[in-house]
Amino acid sequence: MIQIKDLSFRYRGSSEYALSRINLEIPDGDFLGIIGSSGAGKSTLSYGINGLVPHHFPGDFYGELTINGLDSLSSGTEAIAQEVGSVFQDIDAQMVASVVEDEILFGLENFRVPREEIEERLENALSAAGIAELKTRTIRSLSGGQKQKVAIAAITALRPGIILLDEPTGELDPQSSWNIFAYLKELNDQYGITIIVIEQKILLLCEFVKRLAVMDKGALILEGDVPAVMGHADTLKAAGVNIPRVTELGSKFAVRNWYHGDLPYTLAQGEVMMGQVLSWKQPAQEESSHAAL
Ligand SMILES: Nc1ncnc2c1ncn2[C@@H]1O[C@H](COP(=O)(O)OP(=O)(O)O)[C@@H](O)[C@H]1O
Ligand SMILES: [Mg+2]
Repeated sequence: MIQIKDLSFRYRGSSEYALSRINLEIPDGDFLGIIGSSGAGKSTLSYGINGLVPHHFPGDFYGELTINGLDSLSSGTEAIAQEVGSVFQDIDAQMVASVVEDEILFGLENFRVPREEIEERLENALSAAGIAELKTRTIRSLSGGQKQKVAIAAITALRPGIILLDEPTGELDPQSSWNIFAYLKELNDQYGITIIVIEQKILLLCEFVKRLAVMDKGALILEGDVPAVMGHADTLKAAGVNIPRVTELGSKFAVRNWYHGDLPYTLAQGEVMMGQVLSWKQPAQEESSHAAL
């Protein structure tokens, strides 16, 4: 479990706070999506969770952040890395090996995984990420999306209790993005791994995550399960989050008092909403046409 209490952080030399008074609890087994416009502080929050803030990026740090009871200020990044596996936004900077299987083996050996488990973990991680055929390829010959999968596979092979990913689908096409999220869901469902993912594609988040956290200007402005957060369409828009069109339509209907249910975010929910709106509007229209006769 991760507990964040009144966390504020300002990078050294900066006058503005990148994080301001963040309060958040992330229970074991959570699948949390973090969304917000560029510069909102998402990556900085992820650096707080893996200890890079303040151990690698110095600055003014207030409040408290604990990871499975480890205090991030007094623990080093290596101790935190045993709890949290991170996949960074800059994937090239993360890669250490030149061949795919070596990238995964490197981490396994570093974490002193027993020799007899190594081969199985390597094969599992490769096949779960859908990249078994890339095993002996050089990393520099891969596409951005393939590299992303290698990076995730290398982290998942370590089976940390928590996996933190910063915009893992940034370079991926829609199908590969969906595959990555399906893979993350499997890790969450089958191994109970806590997943924290920063992601701009709201539809992917709505489909897969258990909870959403929305950031704006360093603050956490909304947090809750998907329907609860998507119900705040105006707040999301004001924070620069691209909400699904069907949600926007729902919020327009709600303003006109035509619809009172939860705001939809999937097409299926949109259909249900339309059914309600139409069945409610129809008698009213008939009445008015009678009145006109
Ligand atoms: N290494 C850094 N040094 C100084 N300021 C930074 C650094 N990284 C990010 N920032 C600033 O912190 C704020 C939040 O950035 P960031 O966490 O990267 O946002 P996001 O990931 O949501 O786009 C921005 O104003 C950004 O310019
Ligand atoms: Mg970022």
